[in-house]
Amino acid sequence: MRLNIANYDIDKERLPRHIAIIMDGNGRWAKRRNLPRIEGHRQGVRRTRQLVETCGKLGVDYLTIFAFSIENWVRPEKEVKFLMNLFKEVIKDQVPDLVKNNVRIRFIGRFDRIPDDVMKSMRWAEEMTRDRSGLTLLVAISYGGRSEIIDAVKKIIKKGIPPHRIDEKTFCEFLYAPDVPSPDLLIRTSGECRVSNFLTYQTVYTELWITKTLWPDFTPALLLKAISDYEKRERRFGGV
Ligand code: IPE
Ligand code: IPE
Ligand code: MG
Repeated sequence: MRLNIANYDIDKERLPRHIAIIMDGNGRWAKRRNLPRIEGHRQGVRRTRQLVETCGKLGVDYLTIFAFSIENWVRPEKEVKFLMNLFKEVIKDQVPDLVKNNVRIRFIGRFDRIPDDVMKSMRWAEEMTRDRSGLTLLVAISYGGRSEIIDAVKKIIKKGIPPHRIDEKTFCEFLYAPDVPSPDLLIRTSGECRVSNFLTYQTVYTELWITKTLWPDFTPALLLKAISDYEKRERRFGGV
């Protein structure tokens, strides 16, 4: 089935099953307006809401968003505190809508530094949306692709799995979201051409789509453009 939305031709059969997004550029958005960085984060959240809604409506199965990297802990304490608090508020605020829109939320990352109250709201949101069968929204918080791989190795050793039993399939069972397929499409906003330690193991054959647009300016139309571009690409996976 082909859909024409906002002048973009979307083929439902070729839709990416899993979209991952590096939501970058909040600080620059604020700076350009002479606002404090936190205002960029606030506007960014509005865009994230819109994005989740659009992905749900389109019928995307998985959406993984990079909310806070394991490297982001080095930011000024004030910004980190603001972000942690913002996550808590947004989670609390959004759960009823997620339930209504049939979205299941899950969190991935290394959570040892996440404040207790934020952790509690994350667990609560997961519990409240556990049986939702539409879009699965994975939020990467305190996430690093390398940490995820190291954590997987530790779990494998702890379980005493012998080397001859370790292959890619077994290894994937120890990642943060073992049941989730690799992303088909990775979008990065704000023009940086790097992956910044996001989904390191999972993105080896992911199609990359980069836009100069800053995250707080990212519209549903731009998502449709990314999807439409993706659908025109030929994925070869090493073949001919
Ligand atoms: C992305 O925006 C949000 C987070 C990393 C939490 P930035 O805060 O990195 O914004 P820029 O890159 O400084 O513009
Ligand atoms: C990546 O953005 C992390 C998130 C969007 C949460 P950064 O702003 O941290 O990435 P770098 O430092 O520019 O690579
Ligand atoms: Mg950035």
